[in-house]
Amino acid sequence: MFPTERPRRLRRTPALRRLVAETTLAPDDFVAPLFVAEGLSDARAISSLPGHFQHTVDSLRHEVKELLSVGVGGVILFGVPSTKDELGSGAWDPDGIAQVALRVLRDDFGDELVLMADLCLDEYTRHGHCGVLRADGTVDNDATLELYGRVAVAQAEAGASVVAPSGMMDGQVAAIRAGLDRAGHHGVGILAYAAKYASAFYGPFREAADSAPAFGDRRTYQMDPANGREAAREVRLDVAEGADILMVKPALAYMDLIRQTREQIDLPVACYNVSGEYSMLKAAAERGWIDEERAVDEMLTGFARAGADIIITYFAKDYLKRRS
Ligand code: PBG
Repeated sequence: MFPTERPRRLRRTPALRRLVAETTLAPDDFVAPLFVAEGLSDARAISSLPGHFQHTVDSLRHEVKELLSVGVGGVILFGVPSTKDELGSGAWDPDGIAQVALRVLRDDFGDELVLMADLCLDEYTRHGHCGVLRADGTVDNDATLELYGRVAVAQAEAGASVVAPSGMMDGQVAAIRAGLDRAGHHGVGILAYAAKYASAFYGPFREAADSAPAFGDRRTYQMDPANGREAAREVRLDVAEGADILMVKPALAYMDLIRQTREQIDLPVACYNVSGEYSMLKAAAERGWIDEERAVDEMLTGFARAGADIIITYFAKDYLKRRS
């Protein structure tokens, strides 16, 4: 007996496979994370994120220009200040490094790409936590919200067209929306890190942003990897609070939640392919254990297949260069 169903017929040639591919990746769905550091005279390589740098404002402009030339959809900026304090005041200082860089990028590139700013305090606080600490070392949720509102306004005023709160405080999207609206920034959007997990895969980022917590960890505000239903709840809350785009983070170990969010909510869904997901693949490729290009294509396609409309990834430049 010969089989009558022959799926292999459509796999016979590369042209046939391209013709019937269900998932394709568009360059403008990619967002590149970038770091800009205060007080550097030259860009400084980040050893745990090969190919990435703490930029000076000038090297940042060149990087964004290059990304734009290969068609990137947006960038998300992280500031690394030269001095930190208890509250993280550099995050909302109009002369803070992120604001300085945002103004320059806005002047250079305008609306040619989407300028996003990560909105958190951990890079700016001496203790490295994402919010204000009480005397007992716990994070004070509501005191933090007030500061997030200030950061959002400073970022909007400096030229961010989307702010991306990543601190996982309860009510952060509502507080930021209210702060932005009060200051007249009705057009500035919020990309909410809605389902953000307490993850070991952030390791290299903490070197890049110099933001490792000085004590404890982030498990009282970031989510427990065991919980998927809770992601649905976090996402619904952020929608109700006024989020414009929802994000799942990390991406690789959380593909079910990308799919769940895509199916339950009709807003755009982003995923963050985080630092450790980049570095582990790079390290395996360096050792010759894995074919980097094929693995990257497969992983990124998987995010889109799972339902991500927007992919934030350290592979953005490599991948888009290869395609252009
Ligand atoms: C917090 C923040 C983190 C990342 C993005 N925003 C670090 C953390 O939560 O500890 C991680 C991104 C990555 O690993 O690539 N401001």
